[in-house]
Amino acid sequence: MLCMKRVKILPIYLFGLLLFSLLICIQLIMFKENSTEDIATNSENTTLIWWTPFTLSDQYIQCGNVHCFVTNSRHLKYRDNVAFLFYGTHFNVSDLPLPRDIKIWGLFHEESPRNNPLLNHELTLSLFNYSSTFSRFSDLPLTLMYLKSLESLTSHEYYKTFEEKNLLNLSEIVYIQSDCDTPNNRDSYVKELMKYISIDSYGACLNNKKLPTSLTNALETMMSQELLQLVANYKFSISFENAVCEDYITEKLWRPLIAGSIPIYLGSPSIKDWLPNNNAAIFPSDFSSPKELAQHLHNVSNHREAYNNYLKHKIEQKIDNEILIKHFRGYGGKKVDSIINEFECMICNRSVYEKTGFVNKDHYNCPRPVSMLSRKFNISNWWHSDYVKNKCEAAIVRNYIENSQTISSRNLETLVLKHLNEKKCEVPEDEILQGLPYMLTNT
Ligand SMILES: *[C@@H]1O[C@H](CO)[C@@H](O)[C@H](O)[C@H]1NC(C)=O
Ligand SMILES: *[C@@H]1O[C@H](CO)[C@@H](O)[C@H](O)[C@H]1NC(C)=O
Ligand SMILES: *[C@@H]1O[C@H](CO)[C@@H](O)[C@H](O)[C@H]1NC(C)=O
Ligand SMILES: *[C@@H]1O[C@H](CO)[C@@H](O)[C@H](O)[C@H]1NC(C)=O
Ligand SMILES: *[C@@H]1O[C@H](CO)[C@@H](O)[C@H](O)[C@H]1NC(C)=O
Ligand SMILES: *[C@@H]1O[C@H](CO)[C@@H](O)[C@H](O)[C@H]1NC(C)=O
Ligand SMILES: *[C@@H]1O[C@H](CO)[C@@H](O)[C@H](O)[C@H]1NC(C)=O
Repeated sequence: MLCMKRVKILPIYLFGLLLFSLLICIQLIMFKENSTEDIATNSENTTLIWWTPFTLSDQYIQCGNVHCFVTNSRHLKYRDNVAFLFYGTHFNVSDLPLPRDIKIWGLFHEESPRNNPLLNHELTLSLFNYSSTFSRFSDLPLTLMYLKSLESLTSHEYYKTFEEKNLLNLSEIVYIQSDCDTPNNRDSYVKELMKYISIDSYGACLNNKKLPTSLTNALETMMSQELLQLVANYKFSISFENAVCEDYITEKLWRPLIAGSIPIYLGSPSIKDWLPNNNAAIFPSDFSSPKELAQHLHNVSNHREAYNNYLKHKIEQKIDNEILIKHFRGYGGKKVDSIINEFECMICNRSVYEKTGFVNKDHYNCPRPVSMLSRKFNISNWWHSDYVKNKCEAAIVRNYIENSQTISSRNLETLVLKHLNEKKCEVPEDEILQGLPYMLTNT
């Protein structure tokens, strides 16, 4: 800052030595008075450094009676009381504040492993002390962050009755998806399902219906009124997450629940903990094949009572699930900024009040992916080999970090290939059954 000011007013200095000295003096005094440096070196205050830049400007935050200084400035890493914050998607193993000593590392990661597969492995996850993820077991759970309000689940704003939907004479199911080749083979499943029941697909995947132009920018309109109105016309919605992780729930589930269309859901295995009631969705995993699922859907689609049984939250306009009510925190109405502020405060507070914190697999639990269709591990599937490769990377990275060495992405790539060739990266079969932590067999 000081240097910038100097450069800007450099021509003025040419007017005289006196003026020059005077200005320098004034600036030095002002800088000293305003200096964030002085206050923040106060040993009681923790400096939170966003190692993956996030904050717009340096600032003090107050969390209860604790103060912290939040910054992007890496050069402050030598202070006594420092915690490093990372945004999961931008976590870069070639660019870390090593050595990994006693300092606190905090992880903010709301995305699925589709974004950063490396962080789905315990050897990398456990580098962190505290986390904010979609998991209910994380230190600041974001599980319900995509749900705007509990009222929206019972509200009739978009809801159309069984009879109204029949009058529209549309396909039974709506599908809107732009990410088509996901590690659970969801498109193959939908394609198979389409053989037995009609599905209107508006997105890029298996498209057979044109999305109104106002909705084509799907990302920006994920929860738009118009999209919800469209979904509300359909009896069922395909709600398949792009990854199967405990508590990873996105608008793909909430959108149909809000619109009053029955979600056909694949995603968090423990999803029933978060539904408005036990019978608010249909699960492909309850059926042996897409064909059998289609039979059930036809049946439900033709029987008013059976259909309405799945929409108790709309018809009786109440939520039976106490867990959902208890844990709802209203993130959806807030800006991401304010969630980040909460995350910073969580770390700030714990840096003072808690002596130990360790992130484990419960904070980010996505098992090895299986095809929805075969429900088996198949080593020929790309996502299976990716999973093995990423796990191998995690082990190598961990070794480097423990030796306080930085690994470049090129070296990592070379080492992974070497390890794979030497069969050092096999995932033990019993891991599938028991979830044992993976280790390199021989380093
Ligand atoms: C800070 O942490 C303490 C101990 O864990 C907790 O009792 C307190 O509510 C926290 N305060 C804030 C503002 O989070
Ligand atoms: C940290 O800095 C703030 C703001 O200057 C100050 O008021 C506070 O006393 C300091 N110490 C702690 C423990 O927050
Ligand atoms: C990760 O960090 C390294 C070292 O700073 C850099 O060369 C590389 O471009 C970074 N990778 C990404 C994806 O940003
Ligand atoms: C409903 O749609 C089907 C197929 O699109 C069509 O054959 C049928 O005539 C329509 N029925 C009514 C009542 O519009
Ligand atoms: C159709 O639904 C009714 C009512 O839920 C149920 O009794 C019946 O067994 C179902 N039939 C088939 C073939 O699934
Ligand atoms: C954070 O993790 C590091 C490395 O595992 C550990 O040495 C340190 O004690 C932890 N700090 C806290 C406050 O949990
Ligand atoms: C395994 O995956 C490959 C590639 O996707 C596929 O060709 C093969 O049929 C699958 N095998 C089984 C048993 O599902």
